[in-house]
Amino acid sequence: MALFGNLKIACETEFAEIATASRRPFSKKFHSPLSPFRYQHVADYFGNLRVLEVEIGSGRGAYLLERAALYPEMNFLGIEQKEKLMRLSLTRARALGLTNVRFIAPDAREVIRSLPRESVSVFHIYFPDPWFKKRHIKRRFVNHESIHTLHEKLIAGGLVELATDDGDYFRQILCELDRHESRWSARRQSKNSRLFSPETKTLFEQKYEEQHRDIFYLELRK
Ligand SMILES: C[S@@+](CC[C@H](N)C(=O)[O-])C[C@H]1O[C@@H](n2cnc3c(N)ncnc32)[C@H](O)[C@@H]1O
Repeated sequence: MALFGNLKIACETEFAEIATASRRPFSKKFHSPLSPFRYQHVADYFGNLRVLEVEIGSGRGAYLLERAALYPEMNFLGIEQKEKLMRLSLTRARALGLTNVRFIAPDAREVIRSLPRESVSVFHIYFPDPWFKKRHIKRRFVNHESIHTLHEKLIAGGLVELATDDGDYFRQILCELDRHESRWSARRQSKNSRLFSPETKTLFEQKYEEQHRDIFYLELRK
């Protein structure tokens, strides 16, 4: 915990309201309708039952495209709410001839809720939007409810891999976990040193490394 000494923990007082945030923390303009794709039938979507990795907030898709090219025997699903970025990712996947990666644009909260139980091997969550303003903190993707859902959708031994440059957000996540630690069989955290497949990095990760910004990493194993 020494690495995080500068992140003062005051969970009870500071983050109590986030634990009870409503299911619909966004104003209407952030709501997206569920796509026609039925997430319950992931196997139909990919045409096989291979191991599935999911990236939440896949941006331009660079990270998932690199993994999909490295691991053709696995499936990858990128969820990116900005339609323009999602389409760009799809175009790149086609140009690269990758058939094991898909990108979709609904709100990731809706998607992960509708995934089958125990269907995902790794959830990648890199640089989730920090929502700095206090009144917007309840919009952060990682909260009590999403941690519960991620756990439910992982296979036994499956992983959540998370990175953020926002110390306050990271501290909130650690607080949430301390409340529900027993759910996870293992937890690792580090600063400025990627835990999962260090050779592949996201675009934001590369940018922040170049800027010498601190990056906080967390890995949870079911
Ligand atoms: C800071 S960017 C990081 C992109 C990429 N993960 C990286 O590390 O390069 C965060 C991305 O998450 C997307 N995002 C945020 N909340 C989301 C949600 N609830 N569902 C889907 N995408 C979301 C944003 O649109 C944005 O493209």
